[in-house]
Amino acid sequence: MPALEIPKSVPFRVDPMRWEDIPEVMAIEQRVFSMPWPTRAYEQELLRNPNAHYLVLRPREVRAIARTLPLPQLPILGYGGFWLVPDEAHISTIAIDTPWRGRGLGELMFLALVEEAMAWGANLITLEVRASNQVAQSLYRKYGLEVIARRPRYYRDNNEDALVMSVKDVRSLDYREQLEALKAQLWARLQSAGPIPLHRSATN
Ligand SMILES: CC(C)(COP(=O)(O)OP(=O)(O)OC[C@H]1O[C@@H](n2cnc3c(N)ncnc32)[C@H](O)[C@@H]1OP(=O)(O)O)[C@@H](O)C(=O)NCCC(=O)NCCS
Repeated sequence: MPALEIPKSVPFRVDPMRWEDIPEVMAIEQRVFSMPWPTRAYEQELLRNPNAHYLVLRPREVRAIARTLPLPQLPILGYGGFWLVPDEAHISTIAIDTPWRGRGLGELMFLALVEEAMAWGANLITLEVRASNQVAQSLYRKYGLEVIARRPRYYRDNNEDALVMSVKDVRSLDYREQLEALKAQLWARLQSAGPIPLHRSATN
């Protein structure tokens, strides 16, 4: 069970990523990233990396848009993961499928990763982000991460720099209080979302 407790009134859930989730995760991975991980990277992470923690985000329920459609499995809307070494959680990936962005779900995924990392003993959160990725950087800044280094030409596809961002002392009372305040705002935002209509773009 993931560490983050999501109120029942919030129509989304977060679960540990399982082997059976990999094809759906890979479909999103290929849509979202210009340098997608290969399937075997997720297989290795789940099978062989004891320091790896991966989560997936789903709606609690879906409503079919046409009565002729069978009631579908709950689709994966996003996912993320981190490596724990030993009190540092390095977020290795986070993604929300394109149709579901801008509704607070990236924030929900990020919060779930942070709380999971804290539950496993992390006190420092780090990650790399493309210098041009303003959306992700803005999310990370909201959760207190700051740029601590720049890795020139880190991304091979376009030679873009990576920014290393981090936040320390996440187990401190101060940080926990900030998290609680952000969480309360996020629950209020997500509670109004209602059941997720299933469009083809959510599963294809
Ligand atoms: C980064 C990502 C996970 C954010 O998810 P999202 O669902 O779109 O974001 P949310 O709706 O939860 O918004 C959370 C915060 O992100 C930032 N954000 C979201 N959309 C934004 C936009 N269009 N412009 C600027 N900031 C934005 C804001 O800080 C926002 O907080 P706010 O709502 O209080 O302003 C998502 O855009 C994504 O999957 N991007 C592609 C993959 C990627 O870049 N991953 C990160 C690799 S380091």
